Amino acid sequence: MKIALLGYGRMGRAIEKLALDNGHEIALKINRNNVDDISIKNLQQCDVAIDFSWPSSAWNNIKSCVDAGIPIVSGTTGWTDRLPEMKSYVLGQGGAFLYASNFSIGVNIFFEINQALAKLMDAQDQYKISMEEIHHIHKLDAPSGTGITLAEQIIQEIKRKEKWKEGSSEDENTIPILSKRIDMTPGTHSIKYASDIDTIDITHTAHSRDGFAQGALMAGEWLLGKKGFFSMKDVLF
Ligand SMILES: NC(=O)c1ccc[n+]([C@@H]2O[C@H](COP(=O)([O-])OP(=O)(O)OC[C@H]3O[C@@H](n4cnc5c(N)ncnc54)[C@H](OP(=O)(O)O)[C@@H]3O)[C@@H](O)[C@H]2O)c1
Repeated sequence: MKIALLGYGRMGRAIEKLALDNGHEIALKINRNNVDDISIKNLQQCDVAIDFSWPSSAWNNIKSCVDAGIPIVSGTTGWTDRLPEMKSYVLGQGGAFLYASNFSIGVNIFFEINQALAKLMDAQDQYKISMEEIHHIHKLDAPSGTGITLAEQIIQEIKRKEKWKEGSSEDENTIPILSKRIDMTPGTHSIKYASDIDTIDITHTAHSRDGFAQGALMAGEWLLGKKGFFSMKDVLF
């Protein structure tokens, strides 16, 4: 397939390498220097677009692809308070859009484990819940999109939790998320349930960006010929 890479940074380059190894073609590469090349004409020469750009550019990139009528996969984080609005736009225009805060297969399995554990913990008020996420120092947003997804899953399952907050919080209804930025770490997420008697924690550690790139490419292949708004859950499960 012919791929448009909207964002040609760490993730764009990892996807390019994997795509070429798998016989795909990169027809368009966008960074800050050639944003004007995101035109309907250029996009329509591609089978699918994959956006790993900046929180400030994701909205326009995705909208341009929907307007051009090409399927778009995005993993850009830090803008998703507008995701429901984009979902309506995509469905209204008859477009094809797949969003995942994390494309790695391991993290998507971790999401399922997180949800199942939260369900079990709903009745166990004695456990304090907290989260920690660690990423590389260049990451623009905090907490991570994956951290927000994990927190929202817990809020959905545990009645005593209503919101999350970056940093510490002693509020009974709040999940504190501690964001650490350390050198080149690709991404670690831990959820801790601590009582006076014991602690349960679950952790996912990414060793490289390859898992995200593999999942994003898989999502692009899966999205061809489909219409609608999708997540990695649709691809994997
Ligand atoms: N969902 C997941 O699985 C997953 C995994 C990893 C990362 N992410 C997220 O993906 C995003 C990108 O991560 P990254 O590590 O690749 O970041 P990065 O290395 O900073 O790359 C971002 C790229 O976007 C380009 N860009 C800036 N403005 C743009 C615009 N208006 N249109 C198109 N491209 C533009 C940048 O251009 P320049 O090169 O000129 O600066 C750069 O090439 C972040 O939000 C990150 O949190 C998601």
